[in-house]
Amino acid sequence: MAKKLTPKPAKKAAKKPAAAAAAKPSDHIESHLVEKRVFKPSRAFAKQAHVPSLDAYRDEWKRSLRSPDKFWAGEAKGLLWRKKWKTVCEWKPPFAKWFSGGRLNVAENCVDRHCAGPDKNKAAIIWEGEPGETRTITYSQLRREVAKFANVLKRNGAKKGDRVLIYMPLIPEAAIAMLACARIGAVHSVVFGGFSSESIKDRALDSGATMIVTADGGYRRGAIVPLKQNVDNALKDGSTGVKRVIVFRRAHNEIHIEEGRDVWWHREMDYVTPDCPPAEQESEDPLFILYTSGSTGKPKGILHTTAGYLLGAQVTTRNVFDLRPDDVYWCTADVGWITGHTYLVYGPLANGATVLMYEGAPNWPEPDRFWRIIAQHGVTILYTAPTAIRAFIKWGNEWPAKHDLSSLRLLGTVGEPINPEAWMWYHQVIGGGRCPIVDTWWQTETGAIMITPLPGATPTKPGTATLPFYGVDAAIVDDAGRELGANEGGKLVVRKPWPSMLRGVWGDPKRYKEQYWTEYSKQGFYFTGDGARRDEDGYFWITGRIDDVLNVAGHRLGTAEVESALVSHEAVAEAAVVGCPDEIKGQGVAAFVTLKGGMKADKDLKEKLRRHVSEMIGPIAKPDQIRFTDALPKTRSGKIMRRLLKQIAAGQTVSGDTTTLEDLNVLARLQAADDE
Ligand code: PRX
Repeated sequence: MAKKLTPKPAKKAAKKPAAAAAAKPSDHIESHLVEKRVFKPSRAFAKQAHVPSLDAYRDEWKRSLRSPDKFWAGEAKGLLWRKKWKTVCEWKPPFAKWFSGGRLNVAENCVDRHCAGPDKNKAAIIWEGEPGETRTITYSQLRREVAKFANVLKRNGAKKGDRVLIYMPLIPEAAIAMLACARIGAVHSVVFGGFSSESIKDRALDSGATMIVTADGGYRRGAIVPLKQNVDNALKDGSTGVKRVIVFRRAHNEIHIEEGRDVWWHREMDYVTPDCPPAEQESEDPLFILYTSGSTGKPKGILHTTAGYLLGAQVTTRNVFDLRPDDVYWCTADVGWITGHTYLVYGPLANGATVLMYEGAPNWPEPDRFWRIIAQHGVTILYTAPTAIRAFIKWGNEWPAKHDLSSLRLLGTVGEPINPEAWMWYHQVIGGGRCPIVDTWWQTETGAIMITPLPGATPTKPGTATLPFYGVDAAIVDDAGRELGANEGGKLVVRKPWPSMLRGVWGDPKRYKEQYWTEYSKQGFYFTGDGARRDEDGYFWITGRIDDVLNVAGHRLGTAEVESALVSHEAVAEAAVVGCPDEIKGQGVAAFVTLKGGMKADKDLKEKLRRHVSEMIGPIAKPDQIRFTDALPKTRSGKIMRRLLKQIAAGQTVSGDTTTLEDLNVLARLQAADDE
C-alpha cells in the first residue's frame, strides 16, 4: 500500500495568518459603504484558476446558452459512461430528460474510477467526530466499504428503485450508505438527524420506503441524539412499509433491537464480500428524493435523477470551488440537506477531491472548533452558511485568532442572503483578506449552484451572488414574465432547463406543475419562489422568499407546516405563523395562536407548544415567539393578513392598507399582546 494517506498540505499563503489580520470586534462596517466595494480576484489566484478572467467566463457562459446541447455534451465527457447517450436534452415543458439512452453509475463515478490510478490511496474523506476522534478513508478503502454495504443492502432485500431512508449522524457511513444505494440503483432519501419521529414517519409513508439505515445515536454538543429510538417511535404504529432497519453502532447508547426487523451494520458487513459491480443505470433513473418545505403543511419529495444531477454536481464543484488535486475541501453542511448531498458527497467525490467531514457543533467544546479543525487538517476551502458566520461574529474574534488559518485559499457561503457586514468579517477575519468568497445561490430543486462568482474571474461585492453559472438562464421578471431593468425588484426565474434540475415531486405531478411552472406557464419559466433584483453590472441580489416559506438559519421551513403542527395540539384552535427578524438565524419563527375555549393562555402552555412543534417537526421549527390572541386579522373573505402579522412580529407599528381587515380591534389587541 502506498504511503500517501492525506494530500500534501497546501502551500502556505505568503501573507500573515488570518488571525493577524483580524478585525477588532469594534470594527463596525456600515452596509452602505460595504455595498459599494468591489473585490477583484487577485492576479495570483486568477493565474492558477480554472476560469481565469471575467472575459473567459462571459465567453463560455454565452456559448453555453447559445448551444446548450453542445456545451453540456462537452462537459459530460468528464463523467464515466457505460453507454453513451443519444440525445442531450429533451424538453417538453415542464418535463426534461437529459442524456437519454446513456447508462452510467454514480458510485462508480464518485469512487471506483479514482481507484484505477495513483489516487487510490488519496484521502477521500477525512472525518472528525465531535468527541475528537479522527478517521481518514482513502478512495480504495471507500470503494471497499461502499461495495460491501451495497451487498448488505441487497442481502437485506433492497432492489433497484426501492426507497431507502437514511437517518444518520454526520459520519462517513452516511456517505457510504448513500453511495451504496446509488451502486445498486436504490433510491435514497436522507432525513436530517435533527428531525423528529413524526418527520421520519411522514417521509417513510410518502416515499414508500421499505428500509431505514440509521445509527444507535449521534453526538451533538456533547449529548447523544437517540436516532434509533426516534426510528422506533416512527415505526411504532406499523403504518409504514419499512421492513428492515440497519443500525450502525456509533454512540454505544442502549437501544432496542426488534427481532426480525433490525440488524446491526457491523454484523451484516461480516457476511458480505467487497465484490459488488456497480449496476448500470439509465440517465433518468431516480437517484434520490430529498424532502423540503413548501407552502403547504407537508414537505414535498424533490426527485433528482442520475446523469444530469451528477454532471451538475461535478461541473459546479470543480469551477465554483476551483478544485485542485491537493485541496482539503470542507463543506460544513449536514448530509440531511441538499448542500450535504451535492457539495459534501457527490460533487467533490465525482472530482476525486479530499473532503473533510465534521460530525458535531461549531461551538463544542468551545467556539473555536471550526478554526481548530482548519488548522489541524490544513483545510484549503471552507463552504458554510451566513447564519454560522453571524454566530462566529457574536462569539468574538479571539476564537479564530488562536489558530493559524493560513491554509485557507477560498471561502464560500450558501443558504440565505449574506449581510455585507458578515461578508466583510468572513473576508477579513477568516480569509485574512486574501481569500475570494463565493456567495452561491441555489435550491434543493436546482440540485446544483446556479448563481455564483467564479473565484478567479468574477469581481465580488459583499451581499450578492453575482452572475449565473454556465448554462443557467436566470432573469428577474415582473408578474407578466417581462424582464425588468437594472435595480427593479421582481421574481427570480430560470428560463431554460438545466441538467441538475428537479424532475418532479415524488408521487405528486400536480404539485410539481403548480408549484414551479404555473406562475409563468405561458413562457415555460421555472419559478424559484425568490425575489431579487439585478444591479447595473447585472449582478443578482437575492432578497429572499416571496412565498410562504421561511429561511431559518439557512433551512427552509413552511409556515403552513408549523401551523399544522400547532393546530395538532389539543389546546389550539387556530394558528398563523410568519417570519420575524433574527440577528443570528436571519429569520425566526413567530406564531400567533388562538386557543380552544377553556384553555388557559400562560407561559406553561407556550413552552408546551414549543416542545410540541419540536416533536412534530424538529428543534429548528420551534417558535421563537408565541402570542396568544382571541382572533387573527383576516380579510373579509377570511384570508389571514400575514403582512400585518409580520409587522407585529418584527415589533413595528402596523402600517399600510388595512381597509380589507374584518375587525380593526383585532389589530389593537394583537399589538398589545406581548411575547412574554
Ligand atoms: O431563498 C433562497 C435561499 O435558500 C432557498 C433554498 O433553500 P434550500 O432548498 O433549503 O437550499 C439551500 C441550499 C442550497 C432559496 O430559494 N438561498 C440559498 N442560497 C442563497 C439563498 N438566498 C440568498 N443568497 C444565497 N446565496
